[in-house]
Amino acid sequence: MKNIGILTSGGDSPGMNYIINGVLNAAFIYKFNIFSILYGYKGLYENNIKIIKNYKLLNLNNNGGTFLGSSRFKNFKYKIIRHKAINNLKNNNINSLIIIGGNGTYIGSKYLIKKGISCINLPGTIDNDILYTDYTVGYFTALNTIVNSIDNIRDTAYSHECIFIVEVMGRNCGKLTIAAAIAAKCEFFIIPEIKFNIDNLINEIKFKILNGLKNAIIIITENIYNILKLSKYIKKKIKKEIKTVVLGHIQRGGKPVVYDRILGYSMGTYAIKLIYKGYHNVCVGIKNGKLINYNII
Ligand code: F6P
Repeated sequence: MKNIGILTSGGDSPGMNYIINGVLNAAFIYKFNIFSILYGYKGLYENNIKIIKNYKLLNLNNNGGTFLGSSRFKNFKYKIIRHKAINNLKNNNINSLIIIGGNGTYIGSKYLIKKGISCINLPGTIDNDILYTDYTVGYFTALNTIVNSIDNIRDTAYSHECIFIVEVMGRNCGKLTIAAAIAAKCEFFIIPEIKFNIDNLINEIKFKILNGLKNAIIIITENIYNILKLSKYIKKKIKKEIKTVVLGHIQRGGKPVVYDRILGYSMGTYAIKLIYKGYHNVCVGIKNGKLINYNII
């Protein structure tokens, strides 16, 4: 009998519940037991593990977030903590794990694989910064939220002839920023992939103002520059009101858009099929519209 544990870890993302749903539906068909592990690796360590008896009774609605709960559990880097987590898996007779999250989460699964636990990783993060997948579950919902927010900011920027700096998430990846910049027609973007030069930005702004620019959005990925300092500097140089908005965790919540729902569900069912076919230690991705798997290195 296959006993499979499932957990979500790191920053939640809209669509994670659809992955879980896909896993449960497919597991039902193959008659696999699914064990919920609550709050990610922390729950694994604390033995917060329960078999899901009747998944139809679960309140798996179309909300964002994760029904399983999540956490960033830094202590998982300690051997003694992992040792207890692995013992909990063994005591529950769990032979495979489905692990949903971002890059930090994937590092956790490497530790487990070294100790003989079979893992399938699924990309659940708004950042879209995971190798070998075109998209991660949650990315398009976050993007939509960002673009809607910037559309709102644009209205007031227009009315007041004002420049706004809008900081978006992405950790060290500019994909959310650049896509939102295109969709919301931001005049300037600053992303980690391109070295930022503050004076070049000032020159560009001055040039555009000379050519009639009255309001503008500067979109910037988090962790590049303190945007309050940046706004003060720009204000001093161009003598124009600059306002700042940090979009923050609004970007991580909300009901998933259709693409994230379908991608999440498909990846969940695919993960179970992989286990059924005897795959071990692979990550799931989507490339050119096709689900793929690749070995965890
Ligand atoms: O990885 C998802 C993410 O939202 C990043 O974009 C951001 O840097 C980080 O998580 C924020 O994490 P926390 O909610 O722990 O502050």
